[in-house]
Order: sequence, then structure tokens, then C-alpha cells
Amino acid sequence: KTARSFAEPQGEGGETHQASESSAPTLTTAQGAPVADDQNSLKQGARGPTLLEDFHLREKIFHFDHERIPERVVHARGYGAHGFFELTDSLADITRADIFQRVGERTPAFVRFSTVAGSKGSADLARDVRGFAVKLYTQEGNWDIVGNNIPVFFIQDAIKFPDLVHAAKPEPDRAFPQAQTAHDNFWDFISLTPESMHMIMWIMSDRTIPRSFRTMEGFGVHTFRLLDAEGRSTFVKFHWKPKLGLQSVVWNEAVKINGADPDFHRRDLWDAINAGDFPEWELGVQLFDDEFANSFDFDVLDATKIIPEEILPVRVVGRLVLDRVVDNFFAETEQVAFCTQNVPPGIDFSNDPLLQGRNFSYLDTQLKRLGSPNFTHIPINAAKCPVANFQQDGHMAIHNPVGRANYEPNSWGTEIGGPREDPVRGFRSFAEVAEGPKLRIRPESFADHYSQARQFFVSQTPIEQKHIGDALVFELSKVEHVDIRARLVSHLINIDPVLARTVADGLALDLPEPAVAARPTIQDLPPS
Ligand code: HEM
Repeated sequence: KTARSFAEPQGEGGETHQASESSAPTLTTAQGAPVADDQNSLKQGARGPTLLEDFHLREKIFHFDHERIPERVVHARGYGAHGFFELTDSLADITRADIFQRVGERTPAFVRFSTVAGSKGSADLARDVRGFAVKLYTQEGNWDIVGNNIPVFFIQDAIKFPDLVHAAKPEPDRAFPQAQTAHDNFWDFISLTPESMHMIMWIMSDRTIPRSFRTMEGFGVHTFRLLDAEGRSTFVKFHWKPKLGLQSVVWNEAVKINGADPDFHRRDLWDAINAGDFPEWELGVQLFDDEFANSFDFDVLDATKIIPEEILPVRVVGRLVLDRVVDNFFAETEQVAFCTQNVPPGIDFSNDPLLQGRNFSYLDTQLKRLGSPNFTHIPINAAKCPVANFQQDGHMAIHNPVGRANYEPNSWGTEIGGPREDPVRGFRSFAEVAEGPKLRIRPESFADHYSQARQFFVSQTPIEQKHIGDALVFELSKVEHVDIRARLVSHLINIDPVLARTVADGLALDLPEPAVAARPTIQDLPPS
């Protein structure tokens, strides 16, 4: 010990140091200054006031105070893992997307599974849709397939998304319930939104109480486009098929598991990967052209519809394997930012109005959630191919343009002039011809809300149908307002009269009149 000229732990309270061993790194402040004492703040005398001068204390507490970032506005609870995508069947004749060219080639991937409605600390086995978001770090930029474990969605137009989510989340005055489905606001909104009926059949099925993330299917939901080198378009729907098959628990199990182990799904994924039992999915595509799209009564731009696999089989083109857990949950799983608009050359959007709204929403929310337009500098979000542009500055800018040029065109020459456009390799949108008056309109082709709901229900086995009926009775029995229950049953009559009767009986309701088939299409008619 040196002389008393240093401020040192004094007396009996200061004996708990974990002395630095030669092999362990020295504890430092964020500025790199080695720390001698991490147990006691700097005081004026052993029992005196703490000194403002104690930069170590202030830095440590300051940093702790700012540890939380906003949780995702939806899909707050999630769990991610690393892996790879391997192409098994080339799509080179259909798309110029680099990831689909060379059979056997692997592309690094990160996947985050999630529930939608619950908060970050909610239980894994809530009855809820599961997010299935895949980031593929391709050689021509990141491609995010931000999908769910259900192939359809509640609504047809993104303008309804805030209403849907407000109705599903805890009610604003009482701040409960956590469970999305079991309350008046949710069923009130749903019963007034007939386009949600197909989705309701799926979410009342066992699909929303999966056995494991490893036994879930995934779907890109929307119709996308694949573009070849000449700009020719093929419509595509994306499917992930689990190697372990589709497996769910039953409701009684879900309730017990939530009580006994609310981390059931994340623990299962962590344990499986660490045991070398790597989960795997096939990537399948449904490919079709305009003529095929126009052959249906429903619209392929309507996210409440599927294209039946009996009519258009899924072609398997690759596999996704998850083989590495994260090093740090916050850095990777929390900070990962998926966005439907992240597409490389060769992949493009359709005019699905839900998809178009999503393309805006994700980037916008991530600026708030991650706090800076530079969130692409965070390693989990950074592309693994060369990135060069003139974006600069902003909070937490790690990469700025190098040298003098931070604009283009410039005449500085290739040495210092920075990156240039590439008309051949660069991203090009499908040259779709679009014209017409500006309207707020839902087309007639979006109007049938019951046929596919019925198709799904009748495709289920008797025990699966019973589970759907039981789930509806359970969830609707939590609804206090009887008119909301009746309104929902009035839709069920249009889906399956026996199901409607079963649910009405379960709720001790008289069978109401069937719902009017579809909400009238609201139109701003063009000036004649
Ligand atoms: C988050 C899927 C519709 C806005 C997510 C996530 C998934 C997902 C998987 C979680 C991503 C992650 O793990 O980080 C879907 C699907 C939809 C859909 C499949 C319909 C087909 C929408 C719509 C909007 C929207 C219509 C808004 C107009 C958001 C937002 C987040 C989110 C704001 C949080 C993103 C973040 O904070 O990083 N969605 N979503 N979603 N979604 Fe969607």
C-alpha cells in the first residue's frame, strides 16, 4: 500500500475488491482509464457526502440510466439466432437476384421469431401470431423477408394497422389484458372488420400456440415480384417449411407452460442450437404470372388471401439452417432492424396496399427505436457486401465518406471521387404501367371475406375444428359486451353454420342474423 496521498478505500467497508488477475483484462471506465475501486464511491470522509468529482461513479450511473430503448411497437418479444441460407434449386432463369443464382452457395442469415401483441416481458405461449423475420446478407445487399407463421393478415390496407394494433394491445384506461384476443376492444374491432375473418380462423387454430419456433411455418404473406436481367416480372409468394414438421401444443398445455416457464420457446431454441440440433426450414416459392393471377375471383394483392397449394404447388429452392446463438441479446436480437423495403436487385414489390404501407412503417419506427439514421452501422444490421455512398454525419456516425468528395456527380476522378452508379448491376424497379384517378378505394376484387375462411375451416380435421370452436368460445367469453359476441357469431354463420351454432351455444347466445356479406366499398368517385 502506498502513502495516504491517494483516495483509497478506508476502514472496514473497503475490503471487497476483486483484484485483477494477470489473465483478466483490467476494468476501465468507458474512456479507458483503469479502475482501482469499483465498490465504493468517492466520499469526503468515510461517512461524508459523495463527491461530484467522482467521474467513475457518474459515468457508470449515467450509462445505466440510459440502458433502455423503446420496445418494438409490435413484435416486442422476440428471440433470434444466426445461420445460413443454401440454394438447392437455381432460379437464375426467373430472377437476377444474386442469392438465387448458384446452387450450393450459402448466404449468412439472421432470424428473429416473435409474438405480436405482448410486451417484451410477456409469456412465450400466448395465443398470438408469431413473427418469422429473416435477414439474408446477400452479396448485393440485405434482403429481409419480414413474415409471420400465418400466410394471411387481418387487414387489407396499411391505413388500418394502427387501429388493429391499438385494439389488440391492452386497453388504454385499464392497461390490461396482455393477451391480444381475450378482450372487448379486440373483438369489437374484429367484428366490425369482416376482412379479418380468414385470419381469425387461423389465429383461433392451434397455429397460434406452436410447440416450438422450430416447428412453425413461415410466410412472406404478400405477393412479391422476381425480376430477371431484362426486367421481366414473375409474381412470387415465399414459404418456410420446418424440417421438424408443423407442431403445436393444445390450449391446456399452453396455459400451464406459460405459468411454469414463460421462456419456453426461447429456451427451446437456445438449447437446441447449443446441442447441435440445428433447426432447419425449406424455402419454397409459388411462382405465377399475370394470367394466372387474373384467373381468380380474389386478388393476389389482397393479403387476406392465399393461393391454395393444391392449385399452385410450392417449389422448394433452398434451405435455412440456424446454427449459432447470439453473443449478446441486446446487440443482436434487440437491435436488429428488419424492413420489408430491404430488397436486392431482382426482387421487387407488388402493389399490395398493406405491403406498400409496411415499406414506410419499418424504417420510420426504427429511427425512433434505435435513435439514429445510422442504425445500419450496427454490426447486426450492416450489409456483408461493400457499402459505399455519400450519406454522412448524424448521431453515432461510424462510417463517413472518405476523402474530399461527399456528393455526386463530381469531377474528382476514380481515385478520390467516391462511388458511382452502376446501371447494369444496380437496382431497378419493375416498369409497371400504372394510371388512373387518385382514389381512396377498396377494389371489388378485395370484397369476398368469407370464402377462404370457410376453405380453411373445412380443411381442418374434426379435432382441429373443435379446437377452433373451443378457442372462439373461450376468447369471446372474456368479452363483457354481449352485442360484440353476437356480432362476431353473425360472421361465423357466413363461414360455417355448424361452427356458428357451436360457438353461440357455448356462449349461451341466440343465433343472430348472418352478417351482411361485406362492407360496402367506400369510394371517392372520379369526377365524371
Ligand atoms: C414488426 C411482420 C404488417 C408495422 C414486425 C415484425 C414482423 C412483422 C415479423 C418483427 C420484426 C422483428 O423481429 O424485429 C408483419 C407481417 C405483416 C405486418 C407479416 C403483414 C403481412 C404490418 C403493417 C405495419 C407493420 C401493415 C404498419 C403499417 C410494424 C412495425 C414493427 C413491425 C412498426 C416494429 C419494427 C421494429 O421496431 O423494428 N412485423 N407485419 N407491420 N411491424 Fe409488421
